[in-house]
Order: sequence, then structure tokens, then C-alpha cells
Amino acid sequence: MKKMDRRDFFKATMGFAGLSIIMPVISACENNTANEDIQLPMEKPKKWNPIEFNRTRGNKGAIPQSYLPAINGPEGEKKHIGKHLPYIPVLDKSIIIPAGFIPIMWGDPAKGHAPHPNAVPGPDNNFLGHWYNRIEIRRAISVYAQTETSTYSGWPANTDHASGLYISATGGELTSDNGINTVYLAKLPSDVKKGDTIRILAHCLTHGEYVDFLTI
Ligand SMILES: [Fe+2]
Repeated sequence: MKKMDRRDFFKATMGFAGLSIIMPVISACENNTANEDIQLPMEKPKKWNPIEFNRTRGNKGAIPQSYLPAINGPEGEKKHIGKHLPYIPVLDKSIIIPAGFIPIMWGDPAKGHAPHPNAVPGPDNNFLGHWYNRIEIRRAISVYAQTETSTYSGWPANTDHASGLYISATGGELTSDNGINTVYLAKLPSDVKKGDTIRILAHCLTHGEYVDFLTI
């Protein structure tokens, strides 16, 4: 994939796929974080089950009460928890990724998980909007590692208020197909290299906070 820095990329995407409208920062964020009884693993456990971990952590406070019946229900794994877990999409080589960023989508079809939609503020999402407003990435090791946080606002527009970026997996409008083709470009810590396992902690405005590990 071609590389450019974020500023170049931001300029290049102004006007791309209808992203030229600068939206105000959406500050009304439900900041769901888990009860501290559930510690986040620093490195990927040998028997890591992200569905069970996120279900348990979600019931302890990381997921809003209103969504608990869904994650605990019969379709909780694939349609609700799985839908919120990250994966690295295979993108066309013509799609430009700025240097130091990684593309992330949510709800891996290879695992049978439902794709995560994205939406502007409306009655279905308490007028908060439905997108990930924060992605934290660190190298998954047992000792201290730098955490890089990317923030997102005003989906589907890329804004200068945000440190992360949206692109389309298909080159089309981000708003088509309920926003399921939205790719989040998130910053990688400088100590992460190819082949490393990273921990991704991310927050969906409507459905709470989820954690998983990926090897890049
Ligand atoms: Fe969500």
C-alpha cells in the first residue's frame, strides 16, 4: 500500500466520497468503561475467547444496560459482540493508507460476524450517532507499552478535530449500505512492527467498549 502522512492524506480525502463537509465535534459520548474488577489483559491470553471476555466485561459495565439483553441473547455472539470486534480488512492496493496507520473494520465476515453499521445521530441511537469514537492500540506485551489513541467525530466526515480517519472499503459513499463499508484508520504506536500482536480497545458510541487482539 502507498504511504503518505496524515496531513497529506486529510487534504487528499477532502471531497473524496462526499467527505468534504466539516461537521462539528460530537461531544455527547456515553463513556462506558468496565468495572475495574475486570482487568484488561496486557498480552493475549493463551486461551483467549473475545466473545466470553467481552460479554463478561460488558455485563460488568463496559456495555450499556440497554444492550445487555442483545449480547446475552441467542444471537449475542455473532450479531452483537462479534459485530463489535476488530479485524484488518484486505483492501484494494490502490487504496492509500497514511504512514503509521492501520485499517480496521468491525464484525469479521470470515468468522460469521455481522458487519458493524455506522449512522449519523438520530432516534435509533439517542441522537449520539453510531460509530466508534475512540480506538486505543498498544503492543500486547506483559510490560509497559506505549498506547496510541485515535479519536473520531462527525461520521461520515473526516474532520480536523479527529486524530483518526475514515475511508471507504469500496471507494463509494461511506453512508451507503448503512455505513458497513467504513474503514477506520487508526494510529499505531511507534514500537509496533509487522508480526506483532496488538491489543485494540475501542468504544462504540451506542454499544459500549470492546477489546480484542490482532496480529498485524
Ligand atoms: Fe455499535
